[in-house]
Amino acid sequence: AAADGTGKSAFDFPEVEAGIDTTHHVADGYDADILLRWGDPLFTDAPAFDVRAQTPAAQERQFGYNNDFVGFIPLEGDANHGLLVVNHEYTDAHMMFPGIVEIVDDEGGEKVISLTPADQNRVDVEMAAHGGTIVEIRKTGGKWQVVTDGALNRRITVGTEMEVTGPAAGSPRLVTAADPTGRKVFGTINNCAGGVTPWGTYIMAEENIHGYFMGELPAGHREAQNYERLGIPEGSYEWGKFHDRFDVSKDPNEANRFGWVVEVDVLDPTSVPRKRTALGRFKHEGAESIVAPGGQVVFYLGDDERFDYVYKFVSAGKFNADDRAANLNLLDEGTLYVARFDADGTMVWLPLTFGEGPLTTANGFENQADVLIETRRAADLLGATPMDRPEDIEPNASNGHVYVMLTNNTKRKADDVNPANPRADNAFGHIIEIIEAEGDFAATTGTWEILLKCGDPSIAEVGATFSTATTVNGWFGMPDNCSVDSDGRLWVATDGNSPSATGRTDGVWAVDTAEGARGTSRLFFRVPVGAEMCGPRMLDDMETMFVAVQHPGDGGDDWEGFGRLSHFDDPSTRWPDFADGTPPRPSVMAITRTGGGRIG
Ligand code: FEO
Ligand code: CA
Ligand code: CA
Ligand code: CA
Repeated sequence: AAADGTGKSAFDFPEVEAGIDTTHHVADGYDADILLRWGDPLFTDAPAFDVRAQTPAAQERQFGYNNDFVGFIPLEGDANHGLLVVNHEYTDAHMMFPGIVEIVDDEGGEKVISLTPADQNRVDVEMAAHGGTIVEIRKTGGKWQVVTDGALNRRITVGTEMEVTGPAAGSPRLVTAADPTGRKVFGTINNCAGGVTPWGTYIMAEENIHGYFMGELPAGHREAQNYERLGIPEGSYEWGKFHDRFDVSKDPNEANRFGWVVEVDVLDPTSVPRKRTALGRFKHEGAESIVAPGGQVVFYLGDDERFDYVYKFVSAGKFNADDRAANLNLLDEGTLYVARFDADGTMVWLPLTFGEGPLTTANGFENQADVLIETRRAADLLGATPMDRPEDIEPNASNGHVYVMLTNNTKRKADDVNPANPRADNAFGHIIEIIEAEGDFAATTGTWEILLKCGDPSIAEVGATFSTATTVNGWFGMPDNCSVDSDGRLWVATDGNSPSATGRTDGVWAVDTAEGARGTSRLFFRVPVGAEMCGPRMLDDMETMFVAVQHPGDGGDDWEGFGRLSHFDDPSTRWPDFADGTPPRPSVMAITRTGGGRIG
């Protein structure tokens, strides 16, 4: 049953009205300013954005597409000057390239998109628009500005050379025609959420890697079962037509070199990013970290697939606040655990360690590299709890709790619910709160409870548990990314709210977690039609929240007569430029209190 939630809320901003239109909305008394749009130059030698003349070379010097994770790394401890790090998760060709979209609208109401086949320029622009951006920003006069040509500005793309490190480095299963060492990879793909480490490196999580591979594995290939578990190859992109490594018939091991967590040393713009295999290989949603009381660094990791798992990694070594260089190798040694949530409200973190339990040669694992390359199969064997799509997971430094976003799972049937995923046909998702034993993030046991079952609380069958103090604007479905601020307050961003799903766009909701107001939620910011809400990132001083508006205009369903799929020349919104001939552009915004001050 819902708590009444009438205790004192940790938030006092005036709530935004839930709804849907062509632009964004932030709470009264706050400013939301565009900081970076797709195509904005990061260097003075980059051409100005011209959507009709886009080239790979231009895109490599401009802000990429579909901004998702946003992090901030202060420079020399200055809260008003630092590096913004942003993931560019994926590309939407139908909103990036003119003249390639055909929309077939059959009379049955089913709208079908078909693209003209990709050419090499389009594929290479797509590859340059993926990856990440590292860009210097500065706050002057209360407003954030990009420092074009900042000495540490950098684009990471699908062409960036990276090193594979940790237990799976050099495995024969990572060897390709181009790389006999199994240690040198080019690029990172589908970087969804991520993290910033306590030593100020940028973490990019590789999530839905299956869509980038095409072709068919050679008959009887050793990776058949492994790839099937990850849905490889799915063939959403046409890169394999121009780059053999994305065709599994030509380069069967390349897909084993993706699905990892990548660490980037942002203080050296020539540093080689490292794929940290100790953190496992799956559809990594994010990788937020915290230092445990004993000094180990703990990463919380979600595997975003229906019926997949919640993981954490505990480093073997300890964080040293006085020695940044020593911390740069912490992620190569440690223990990866997967969560089992038990019916009595306790939980166990099960180690994915070669030689322990079922993780032996009898089950086809020859070493730790094999366990990590097939993390999901290893976790299956350990009896981990199948979840409703684990998305972002964030620890709360102020109380030792951890919030797990579970976005939805409409394939869960009444006969396969479990205590931690209790709703059949879970269309709106839920949030679990883990309480680590003794408040120790490195603990191998803990307790858990469901903080919130999402959806419209006015519809009894939905079974949502927002407090009764939550207004008609305050409830949401499909939690995705989150941010825990310096006061331990939880901010939740969503993916999937739409006119037909919930009658509202995605946005950022502030959720009370403390006794009294627990389960009360209120809307702080909402996106334009068709967009998904990413970020969010509250800075430590709580005077700025960065949010990422992803794929604006990409309609999820009908709204005022606009079709399911927006067309380059007929977008349902031209946010944020609203200029003829310019498509909608994914953008990062900086939210501040008008005149300055603490947010929330
Ligand atoms: Fe990229 Fe799990 O969403
Ligand atoms: Ca996500
Ligand atoms: Ca987050
Ligand atoms: Ca998302």
